[in-house]
This record gives sequence, C-alpha cells and structure tokens, in this order.
Amino acid sequence: MKDTLDYINTYTDNFQPEIGIVLGSGLGELADKYCEYSIPYSQIPGFESSSVVGHKGQLVFANIVNRKVVMMQGRLHFYEGYSMLQITYPIKVMKRLGVNTLILTNAAGIVNKSFRPGDLMVITDHINFMGDNPLKGHNDETFGERFPDMSEIYNKGLIKIADTAGRLLNLNLRHGVYMATSGPSYETPAEIVMARTMGADAVGMSTVPESIVANYCGMKVLGISCLTNYASGVSTKKLSHAEVVTTANDVKDKFSALILMILQNAK
Ligand code: HPA
Repeated sequence: MKDTLDYINTYTDNFQPEIGIVLGSGLGELADKYCEYSIPYSQIPGFESSSVVGHKGQLVFANIVNRKVVMMQGRLHFYEGYSMLQITYPIKVMKRLGVNTLILTNAAGIVNKSFRPGDLMVITDHINFMGDNPLKGHNDETFGERFPDMSEIYNKGLIKIADTAGRLLNLNLRHGVYMATSGPSYETPAEIVMARTMGADAVGMSTVPESIVANYCGMKVLGISCLTNYASGVSTKKLSHAEVVTTANDVKDKFSALILMILQNAK
C-alpha cells in the first residue's frame, strides 16, 4: 500500500480527493472531459490492469464543480480472473487518499419488467450472488471491523441527493436492488426468474465487491446502474456486449449531467 500511495502522491503532487467515482462500461467520458492527472493502472505499483473493451484502465484526478475527485476510468472485474482482493484494492487506496464518498456506476441488465433500456437506476440495496466476498481472509483493523454491518450500504442521504438531481434533470430515475453474478457468461432465463423471485431489479457483474469494501471502510456509497438491456428471457432478443456498450453510450450525456449535479450537492 505504501508503494502505491507514494507513487500516486508523487505523480499528482499530493492531490487529495474527497470523492471517488468508478465509471462503468461506456461511461468513461467524464474522465476524458475533466482530467488533471491520469495514471494508467499498469504504471501504479500494486494495481492490476483491466482488459475489457470499453474500459480504459486509468486513475484520473480532477476538480469537477469545485470538488476534488478521483475517478477509476474502467474497473477490474471478478470475471477477468482477478481475486476479490485485487479488484477492491483501488477502493482501499481511495480511502487512504482521503475519499469519504464513493459513487459506483455500472451497466446492468433489466430484471424488473417495468424498467426500460436507457433508464438509470439508483441502487437501494444489493444481493451478492458472486459466490465470494472481498473481506475474506486477514482483516486489517485500520480499515474496518471483522464483521461489518451491511444493513445500509447505499447511503440514504446520497440517494436523496440523486433523486433531487434526477427530478431537476427530468430523468425518471428508477430505484432498485442490484444483483451481482460472477459472469462472464450472461444469465439464463431461469436464473433471471430466480433473480426476480429473490427481489432483484437489475443484474450485473460488478459493483458489489467495491460497495462492500467501501462500506466496511466507512465510506458513504452511492450506486447508479445504467440499464442497458433486458436481461436474459425478459425479451426474445439475445444478449451482446455490443448492445450494452451502445446503450451506455446513448445515455452518457444524461448520466454525466446527473453525476455533475450530484457532485455539486454531495456533502
Ligand atoms: N447481465 C449481467 N450483466 C450485465 C447485463 C446483463 O444482462 N447487462 C449489462 N451487464
């Protein structure tokens, strides 16, 4: 950890971010637009590099609407073969850099049939269906306790701020439960019926490990899903990553506007 922090602090001249943002599939434009320092993950000691199309793989530092922000332009995924510990390492780094509020974004499939592709969904809770947990193994008490409470991962105050911003921008923001599967295969129709029965509104392959670690570290967490496609069996259409990236690109302007307004109002 010390090597990682020393490298970043030297590179950024001790930039101290207060807010972290993880930008999901096709949502990286915010980082291109506002960038003071960018460091490819491959250069940062202790970081792994992401290999997914539509994910750039760099840490971007910027002042946005007067807030000091660090963005992950592209995240690491469990399905890439990394351990839970590896994919959540950047969250612990953000914590050590001073981040106390984390905004997690992702692309997700629609489980709740009243939602439509292109909708944005505020995550109110999650179901960890990945079969693993990022807090497994030795616990570093300087981050958090062994058995952390997870009864309110997604901060109610931040959800309210997102809702207000969504109303002002006329976005018809959805609320829902995000279920994370390990991937990389998309789900079967039967698995989506199961997800719905279990209370999920959307399904994806990320975010949950990061939000568990952020909550454990005492960060306030906001999660927003860009609903890119009907999940398996919800429509007759076959699923493709190209569709996910295309829909995410189509909504990137309203998504960026939402994030900017949230940043303005987040305490
Ligand atoms: N399933 C899982 N992950 C996803 C999906 C989906 O339908 N869409 C975008 N990410």
